[in-house]
Amino acid sequence: MTLILGIESSCDETAAAVVRDGVSVLGQRVASQVDLHARFGGVIPEIASRSHLEAIIPVIEESLDEAGVTLDDVDAIAVTVTPGLVGCLLVGLSVAKGLALAAGKTIVPVNHVHAHIHGALMPWMEERALAGEDSDPPWPLVALVVSGGHTSLYVCESPSEHRLVGRTIDDAAGEAYDKVSAMLGLGYPGGPVIDKLAQDGNPKAHAFPRTRAPGLDFSFSGLKTAVLYKVRGQGAPRGAPLLPGIRREDVAASFQAAVVDVLAARLVTAAEEVDARGLVVCGGVAANSALRARATAEAERLGLPLFLPPMALATDNAVMIAGLGHWLFAEGKTGDLGTDVLARTD
Ligand code: KG4
Ligand code: ZN
Repeated sequence: MTLILGIESSCDETAAAVVRDGVSVLGQRVASQVDLHARFGGVIPEIASRSHLEAIIPVIEESLDEAGVTLDDVDAIAVTVTPGLVGCLLVGLSVAKGLALAAGKTIVPVNHVHAHIHGALMPWMEERALAGEDSDPPWPLVALVVSGGHTSLYVCESPSEHRLVGRTIDDAAGEAYDKVSAMLGLGYPGGPVIDKLAQDGNPKAHAFPRTRAPGLDFSFSGLKTAVLYKVRGQGAPRGAPLLPGIRREDVAASFQAAVVDVLAARLVTAAEEVDARGLVVCGGVAANSALRARATAEAERLGLPLFLPPMALATDNAVMIAGLGHWLFAEGKTGDLGTDVLARTD
């Protein structure tokens, strides 16, 4: 049996988790800072790092308590080292190094984006492992990672092998949700609000652009600008009121339809190009109801299994960090006191 303590602090969630054998969650905590940043309409890095500092030790203690284990019982400490806000990543890594030094443990540096992919596979792997069946996912998988900071497509050959085949050349999909939400005066984070509002809107009310970036890349800045011009008029000053006759529900539904169309098209093309045996959609935007429904329909059409994280594992958490950390630890991909953080990876 292997026990991994996972630590996550790359953005605005402080999280810890204890995972057994790479699949079973024994304890976990997420302290969200969303309320702290909401009034600024986005994450303020200095506030985020300070808040991680306050939350991280209690969050780790509570997850160990819930798991009914102590630090001595864990085999390794997996920690997010990239990508993310440097000041935030440093809090998690420094605590991981301190604990590792004090308790004589190994640290395992983890890539947050790769961990999102792994988090989507974990419930399936656990179910198979518990049933005594082969729990190795059907490689190669094509994975779409959509969050506030990333919109990337990967081809995955194993838990630890990820080849980037496409990414956004400007805004991330979640960022576009957050910006459109701000334009509509709906607050932060925008994804859940727009998702809800879109259910009462007409997705065909506005013909927003489906931008095709070269290859398998994405671009959302043209869509964002198109929404801005539609709701406030071309050249309107910042903070101008919505144009008369604009229904927020219709804008939300039409914007969401454009995002989902582009994401789904690229996912399908990538899957066909590499002859994928399964699809993964993960990251905060994987909580989106329209994207989940569309990905499910496309997977059925292609006859491929679709791995979607359960809602609780869609947004940032440490379960996915500990889960991927398990495989990296098994492969000897460990760190030491010289391990550093990296703001951007790809
Ligand atoms: O993965 P995540 O928790 O943090 C990052 O690594 O960025 O993703 C957060 C992003 C935010 O932009 C948020 O608006 C978006 O995920 N999000 C959603 C939904 N729930 C969260 N976007 C669309 N629909 C949702 N239901
Ligand atoms: Zn994330």
